[in-house]
Amino acid sequence: MKRTQIMKAIEGKAKSVLLKGWVHRKRSSSQMAFIILRDASGTIQCVIKKDDVDAKSWECATNTNIESSLVVEGTLKKDERAPTGYELVVKKLRFISQGEPFPIARDFSPEFLLDVRHLWMRSTKMTAIMKIRSTVTGAIHEFFRNKGYHELTPPIFTPAACEGGSTLFEVKYFGKKVYLTQSWQLYAEAMVFALEKVYDNSPTFRSEKSSTARHLAEFWMAEMEAAFMDYKECSEIGKAEVKFIIQEVLKKNQKELAALKRDLTDLKLAATKKYPTITYTHALKLLKKAGMNVKWGKDLRTIEERELMKIFDTPIMVTHYPKEIMAFYKPVDAEDTEAPGPVCKAFDMIAPVVGELIGGSERSTDIKEITKNLKKEGEKLDNYKFYLDLRKYGSVPHSGYGLGVERLVQWICGLENIKDAIPFPRTMDRWTP
Ligand code: 4AD
Ligand code: MG
Repeated sequence: MKRTQIMKAIEGKAKSVLLKGWVHRKRSSSQMAFIILRDASGTIQCVIKKDDVDAKSWECATNTNIESSLVVEGTLKKDERAPTGYELVVKKLRFISQGEPFPIARDFSPEFLLDVRHLWMRSTKMTAIMKIRSTVTGAIHEFFRNKGYHELTPPIFTPAACEGGSTLFEVKYFGKKVYLTQSWQLYAEAMVFALEKVYDNSPTFRSEKSSTARHLAEFWMAEMEAAFMDYKECSEIGKAEVKFIIQEVLKKNQKELAALKRDLTDLKLAATKKYPTITYTHALKLLKKAGMNVKWGKDLRTIEERELMKIFDTPIMVTHYPKEIMAFYKPVDAEDTEAPGPVCKAFDMIAPVVGELIGGSERSTDIKEITKNLKKEGEKLDNYKFYLDLRKYGSVPHSGYGLGVERLVQWICGLENIKDAIPFPRTMDRWTP
């Protein structure tokens, strides 16, 4: 008999089936044994009656440890009490591999679960998160491909910073020094002069020197860049992307969201409502009304982003951050007259749970301005020669943004810590397994 996955067997209402999977739970008495069998599709209760199976099957059912792998033959039987409406009456049971006692017992600390992440990946929680993550990354590709964007990946070894030198990872490179990429952006800017609309989802590295619940040292950033586009149009694409991803998850992952006990109120609003855009200066006024004083010119911190999320019931775009706190490539916008100092054609999306989810901007086309900013940041101009070239040979207005994939997964799944949004997290104090 050919192997069927548990949910396929249930949906197909086949009578006789052969299943392969792992022991999720088990209990037995002198005449009966019950095994909850798990595979990637779901779980099913297997009922083993001592008198109805051969001696080897009974031995297997009573001696198995949690997470042993099994092959099971039997017949599906309707059972209203079973979570899927069916149970399996077992005819034959064999080990594929008899497992040693599984190290994850009842009481465990988050740190221990990270130590045994390679085994904890099998848990209902991690399985649900990873299925949702797969929907999220699939939706990113679908969103941009439907809009005629080309997928192009950046180099991971780079000679220079994109987002400031303080979070660069240095790597030995044939006797020289290079860095792990902080963002594909500078290369995306080169590519739009050929392909006009490009996107990617790639590993990104930041040597974040503090452990927070929303920072990783290695994370995936989904970025886009487009020629002939201003920051306003670009920020609307960011809103549409997030909305599309949430809609896809709500369509495809109801079972996983339920397993995570996720209250869907904010996700449903984010899937349907319009997301407002406000300026940074206006955001400070709203925060002041809520009793939070932020000095104009200071970046918004997590607590302030959280406060904004209490005022709005969807993600918001905050535009026109002060130039002082912006990267070298962001152009000044003279149009925001409300602001007491120079501000940029830049935007961040703030979302529930995680705060900053997207960072983006129009890109300066003024070679003198870029050079001045780079010098001010203490960067070697030589490393940016290729970037400055882009302003010399047929430059056009262009914009782009990056979305933090793990932050989006963290929000959608309602996770306390970003570490659970990626299979094997890397932070300042976690690089194994
Ligand atoms: O705001 P950031 O630094 O923007 C850039 O890197 C731009 N060059 C992107 C672009 O315009 N193409 O990062 C973008 C997003 C953040 O909003 C956040 O969601 C995520 O990347 N991010 C992190 N996620 C996890 N861990 C970290 N250490 C992160 N740093 C940024
Ligand atoms: Mg940012």
